[in-house]
Amino acid sequence: MRGLNTYDSFKSIVELIEADNRTPHAVIATGDLVQDETRQGYERFRKLIGELGVPVHCIPGNHDSPRIMAELLSLPPFQFCGSATYSNWVLIMLNTAIRWDAGGRLEAAQLEILDRTLGAHTAHHALVCMHHHPVPMGSPWLDGINLRNSDEFFKIIDRYPHVRGIVWGHVHQCSDRERNGVRLISTPSTGAQFLPETEAFMLDTLPPGYRWIGLMPDGSIDTEVVWL
Ligand SMILES: [Fe+2]
Repeated sequence: MRGLNTYDSFKSIVELIEADNRTPHAVIATGDLVQDETRQGYERFRKLIGELGVPVHCIPGNHDSPRIMAELLSLPPFQFCGSATYSNWVLIMLNTAIRWDAGGRLEAAQLEILDRTLGAHTAHHALVCMHHHPVPMGSPWLDGINLRNSDEFFKIIDRYPHVRGIVWGHVHQCSDRERNGVRLISTPSTGAQFLPETEAFMLDTLPPGYRWIGLMPDGSIDTEVVWL
C-alpha cells in the first residue's frame, strides 16, 4: 500500500505498544482496517491486535466491509461500534461509512445512538470516535471526503456539555485542537502518513504511528503520538 507493507508496519506498531511500560485498558481502531475487504484480512487483524489482551473497539472506514467487520469483530475482546464505559468515561463508537463514497455520513440511526447514549450517560465524560473528520483539515482533497453531515453531528454534540473529546482516523495525520471546550483529535495511520495542508494528495515522510489517549478522572484528555 503506497510503497509500504501495511501488515508489517501494523505488526511493528503492536510490538511497540507491547514494549511500552504503560498497558492500555483498551484499543480504539478507527477504521480502514483492511483495504481489500477480505475475511482473511480481518482474521489477521484480529489475531495480531488480540495479542494485546485488552478490549478492541472497532469502527469501519470507507475502505472496510462493515458486514465482515461486524461478523468477525463482535465477540469479546472485540466490539463493533456501540458504546462502552471505563470508570467515569463513556466511549461512543460511530459508524460513518457509506457505500461507494470515500466521504462519510452519520445516518439517522447513528445520530440517534449518539443522542441516546449521551443522554443516558450525563454523569460520565464522553469520548466520541468515528472514522471521518467532522472539521476541515485544511487540505481541499481530504476535505472533499469528510463527514458530510457534520452540522447534524455538532447539533447533537453541542447539547451535551459532558462531551470532552472527538477522535477520528481517515486523514493519516495528527491534529489536536479545541471547539467549544471539546478536544478534536486525529490520529496517524499505522501505515503511511498524508502530508498536511496540500491541494492534492501527497505522502508525508513520517513513519507509521499510533496515539495514546489518557482519559483522566477530571474529564481532561492526556494524549501523545508515538512514532515507529
Ligand atoms: Fe478512510
